[in-house]
Amino acid sequence: RLLGTVGAAGATGIALGAVSGAAGYVAAAGDPATALATVGSASEAFHGEHQAGITTPLQSRGHLIAFDLAPGAGRKEAVALMRRWSATAARLMAGEPAGDGDTGVALDAGPSSLTLTFGFGRTFFDRTKLTARRPVALDPLPAFSSDQLDPRRSDGDLWVQIGADDALVAFHALRAVQKDAGEAARVRWQMNGFNRSPGATAEPMTARNLMGQVDGTRNPKPSEADFDRRIFVPSAGAEGPYAWMAGGSYAVVRRIRMLLDDWEKLPLKEQEQVIGRRKSDGAPLTGGSETTELDLDRTSPDGTLVIPANAHARISAPEQNAGAAMLRRPYSYHDGIAADGTPDAGLLFVCWQADPLRGFVPVQRKLDRGDALSPFIRHEASGLFAVPGGPGSGEYVGQRLLE
Ligand code: HEM
Repeated sequence: RLLGTVGAAGATGIALGAVSGAAGYVAAAGDPATALATVGSASEAFHGEHQAGITTPLQSRGHLIAFDLAPGAGRKEAVALMRRWSATAARLMAGEPAGDGDTGVALDAGPSSLTLTFGFGRTFFDRTKLTARRPVALDPLPAFSSDQLDPRRSDGDLWVQIGADDALVAFHALRAVQKDAGEAARVRWQMNGFNRSPGATAEPMTARNLMGQVDGTRNPKPSEADFDRRIFVPSAGAEGPYAWMAGGSYAVVRRIRMLLDDWEKLPLKEQEQVIGRRKSDGAPLTGGSETTELDLDRTSPDGTLVIPANAHARISAPEQNAGAAMLRRPYSYHDGIAADGTPDAGLLFVCWQADPLRGFVPVQRKLDRGDALSPFIRHEASGLFAVPGGPGSGEYVGQRLLE
């Protein structure tokens, strides 16, 4: 098979092999002349019914950053900040400089599918005296027995997710967002993540995580009839105190450390039992290919379930959770080697849903009680953010809440 893309650069040329867009990945021809016409030139729209960065195909580089409003800053400062951030996001996503004093880090590059996605945490509403308009969906997530959360790396008044298919473009946006915060808000925490580069594989594929598993197979797809209902707050008939969330979504963010030394010692067969899928191609242990349905009832000749009762893919399936579903859109992370010699690596798990109580919460409750993956992971930080719908032309993000 021809690897006429990043994965084979040097052998067949430098063309990068994917263009992102709402429709997903499109493989590019292996023509060096098309290099910037592919990864670099792909752009996402800032304006629209939904913010970018939710259904946008996973980018290869991500930054998550949370802020708290500065002492003394309230609604007025928040309005000015959201105006600044929106103007910057619109420019950067179109491949333009951030404005006066641009750092120049993204010069020469196209927009590279850059997205900036903005959310409000529970505490934002107290700080801006908008508590009456805080959705019930922002109630704190329940405590889970396996949580080992660091409050300094959790929550926050404001949250920004940055994604791009170029590391410099993503970093440039991160700096611009931080500078725009000025005196109005202070960084609370920041995390860096990555995914596979577009074009690294012969054809577009579901990503792998740092445990080596194909991860994202059973995500709801925008082409499915109930996708919008599961992922986005309805726009039709929106009224009342939470109408500003029309077209929005709730993001649950969990920093999940992977205990890779332990995981990698586990023989392949046992690794596959933990998930209920083959590692090589993500197919269910009951056979077929990656997209074949799991046969949850199938037993082996000795009477045991082929997909074990505690397999992650069984426990998390919507069929096992009264239909609870979410769009998982994570970044892997690696923050070097910890003092004990183990990699500080894992998943910046970001999942999107119209209502966390019909998405993340019931599924995590169940995983917390008996997921075969639990001994190999540790939830280290957590956040829940209300991400309003996309701005209309001339609007800034969150305007319908803040005006
Ligand atoms: C499925 C890995 C954490 C929810 C999967 C699959 C893998 C995987 C390999 C099967 C392929 C797929 O359908 O995507 C992981 C790893 C995790 C993790 C390595 C932690 C480091 C979580 C968490 C949740 C979750 C915290 C939510 C509370 C799901 C869901 C599915 C899934 C909903 C799809 C099930 C289905 O629709 O059949 N995960 N997962 N996962 N996982 Fe996770």
